[in-house]
Amino acid sequence: RVYVFALDVGVDRLVAARVGLGGTILDRRETVRRRGAFSLEEIVGPLASFARQMHRKTRPDTVCVGVAAAFSGGVARGDGVVRFGPNMGAVDVPFADEMARRLAFGLPVMVGNDANLAALAEHTRGVGVGCRDLVYLHGDVGIGGGVIVNGQLLGGYGGFGGEVGHMVVNPKGRSCGCGSLGCLEAEVGERALLESAGLFGSGVGRDAVRAVVDAADRGDIGAQAALSRVGDWLGLGVANLVNIFNPEMVVFGGMLREIYLGSAAQVRSRLAVDALPTCRDTLRLRTSALGDDATLVGAAELAFAQVLADPIEV
Ligand code: BGC
Ligand code: NA
Ligand code: ZN
Repeated sequence: RVYVFALDVGVDRLVAARVGLGGTILDRRETVRRRGAFSLEEIVGPLASFARQMHRKTRPDTVCVGVAAAFSGGVARGDGVVRFGPNMGAVDVPFADEMARRLAFGLPVMVGNDANLAALAEHTRGVGVGCRDLVYLHGDVGIGGGVIVNGQLLGGYGGFGGEVGHMVVNPKGRSCGCGSLGCLEAEVGERALLESAGLFGSGVGRDAVRAVVDAADRGDIGAQAALSRVGDWLGLGVANLVNIFNPEMVVFGGMLREIYLGSAAQVRSRLAVDALPTCRDTLRLRTSALGDDATLVGAAELAFAQVLADPIEV
């Protein structure tokens, strides 16, 4: 039996788990983090101590560490340096090296983008099993994407491929953490939804988003209008992706699962207008099957692939 440690570095939370082959999560620890600027110590400290606690209780049968991070880049060209996170405020941080040093188990540490890894997880173990071409959209505080083309994750030249959250859908729109205006993330993300519903400032995070979706379900007109505005931008983003990649399936994961469920009609009517019929007619829209575990399961896949089979480029 072999296991890996899977770590998830999100904007709001840090999660560590011990995961078995097949994506079984055996032990899991989680802590919240305060939003804003990233410091290596603040992230690596708690995650390393979770991993040490889990390691102590087990035999030394854990062989690798996989990290899913809300940053673009990572392991792609083999360096484990996280480069850019509009909601994390850091560039060029040698994450893998520092993690390996802190863990001191001598385990290799592989780092990938959260959305890319969640896409991989949905493709191998989730709703996208058997799909050769799939686009996965991940909502955390930001919006990320993982594009699977012909069964392979699209990495791009530098490993930053699939940053669909920074596709501009509204050139005169809201400002995005990346410095641009009207990115999909800026128009559809948590902040856009809460502001649109007149709720920004009274709590953030997944619960706040869920509250808007619940209010809309109960017939709240303001919440319904906010979701329909956001759904319109989401539909436009999806239409562009569908026209470019002609996927068999688009999967909504993380917080976008809730947002999509609350705005599916709007998304579909946008697609009806903006997606090419040839790309739209065969398309299936689905929500993530692995839910909040998708990033962890993907991080575990990355780690297992590194030690057992062919390393995956993410
Ligand atoms: C980042 C992506 C990340 C996404 C979700 C975006 O702001 O650019 O790298 O995948 O947020 O965490
Ligand atoms: Na990505
Ligand atoms: Zn952006």
